[in-house]
Amino acid sequence: SRNDLRLADLKPPKVGKTSLIMSLVSEEFPDDVPLRAEEITIPADVTPERVPTHIVDYSGNNSNVTANVICIVYSVNNKKVPLILVGNKSDLVEHSSMETILPIMNQYSDIETCVECSAKNLKNISELFYYAQKAVLHPTGPLYCPEEKE
Ligand code: GTP
Ligand code: MG
Repeated sequence: SRNDLRLADLKPPKVGKTSLIMSLVSEEFPDDVPLRAEEITIPADVTPERVPTHIVDYSGNNSNVTANVICIVYSVNNKKVPLILVGNKSDLVEHSSMETILPIMNQYSDIETCVECSAKNLKNISELFYYAQKAVLHPTGPLYCPEEKE
């Protein structure tokens, strides 16, 4: 029923995780996408921040849990992991969701940034991984309200 709540590890299926990684690595949208991409280390000299970056694809889970809600769960005593909201498949919609998302993001300093991208059109792919790398190396807080960060 619609009221069933199933709590799983965060593995939203089919959002394009594997495609994003493969689009980044081969600069080409994969027509046949495997369940998960091979682990890969991007060498320092080709990353914007000049640090080697290890990318691990999470999931490739066959069980297709369809979700009515996705909860991102973190421990409040250890919430230093920066969150980046990634809206993939932007090629499928006419209108950007940014207008809706930005005010939300500005309320939650735990959200480092959000990015709309498309593995298919190779849009914002390198930017996405750059933001992720940057969030680890120089956690600065939300891009759009830096003054609110303590
Ligand atoms: P699981 O490993 O099963 O959790 O899925 P995933 O998150 O790795 O998604 P995957 O990369 O396998 O992509 C799922 C489907 O979405 C595939 O049919 C992709 O071709 C499609 N897809 C991925 N990215 C995009 C995109 O940017 N645009 C469009 N239109 N389709 C996409
Ligand atoms: Mg996958």
